[in-house]
Amino acid sequence: MNEVNSERIAQAVAVLRGGGLVALPTETVYGLAADAENELAVRRIFAVKGRPESHPLIVHLPSLDVARDGWIARASADAERLAAAFWPGPLTLVFPRGPRALDVVTGGQDTVAIRVPAHPLARGVLQALSGGVAAPSANRFGRTSPTTADHVREDLGGEVDLIVDGGACAVGVESTIVDLTGPAPALLRPGGVGREALEEVLGAPLLVRTAGGPVRAPGMLASHYAPRAGVVLASEADLPQTVASLIAQGRRVGVISPSRALPEGAETIVVPPDADGLARLLYASLREADARALEVVVVQLPPEGGLGLAVRDRLHRAAAPRT
Ligand code: TXA
Ligand code: MG
Repeated sequence: MNEVNSERIAQAVAVLRGGGLVALPTETVYGLAADAENELAVRRIFAVKGRPESHPLIVHLPSLDVARDGWIARASADAERLAAAFWPGPLTLVFPRGPRALDVVTGGQDTVAIRVPAHPLARGVLQALSGGVAAPSANRFGRTSPTTADHVREDLGGEVDLIVDGGACAVGVESTIVDLTGPAPALLRPGGVGREALEEVLGAPLLVRTAGGPVRAPGMLASHYAPRAGVVLASEADLPQTVASLIAQGRRVGVISPSRALPEGAETIVVPPDADGLARLLYASLREADARALEVVVVQLPPEGGLGLAVRDRLHRAAAPRT
């Protein structure tokens, strides 16, 4: 850890200890962090984001060992296997809660979501704090998550006490959430760890929790992660036709696609051809569509493997009817 980083870590820890809010880089997206054991600080997260208080937050910790120190009631064998394989990293695990997990963090549920992030600045802060950090993505409720410090400034600039700039996030989509409190591990949100990799470690297929029943996760709301521009999804084969018909309607159209050879009259935002590359630039591309004042943006869907599942999930939500 170089000197600049140690200084930034010390500054962030001081703000957190004082009950302030820090925008903190993680490898997935930037988080809006507060000391998870400071109820007033956590309440400010909801106020700043405009997020309903019934929606629980993830507690970020330096390790599973620390989680055992009062944050969780117990870890199943599956939880230990997943933590050993993917922590630190873009995976969130839901456990039966321990006494250190406050109601304001868990939404009053009897479970708590824990993540051990890999970004060196996030790790540095968590190790120095010797506590937990509650952090949702550092965007306004319902909008796309920030993957650069500038995105945070655009969304919440005046309302956070410190923005720690850790560069662009390496993964670009939120963590995968797996619930380990039921009879078998269940996927609640696809994310930075692919489903195949999880199933390989578990040695069994993951249940997929459908979005029926009570909404426990805002990421489960149909319309979420949305830019201002309308979002239309297309396969590679359908894309030219879809774009042409939108242009024919006289709309200001953009295309997010790996191909530069696109119909005339549309603005192109070029992205890498693989799902990992698209994940990394997905939210920045959707923000770029808004910066260019596009009315509608057509996005080419990646295949489902690896991070493709998470990218498709976010895109389907971005394209869902707005309420
Ligand atoms: O990658 C990420 O997970 C980022 C970074 C900052 O760590 N965080 C993030 O937080 O995406 P947020 O608040 O935007 O999404 C957290 C998700 C929500 O859908 C929330 O409902 C769910 O985790 N969650 C939190 N606690 C839960 C619990 N006890 N049971 C089920 N879902 C839970
Ligand atoms: Mg979020």
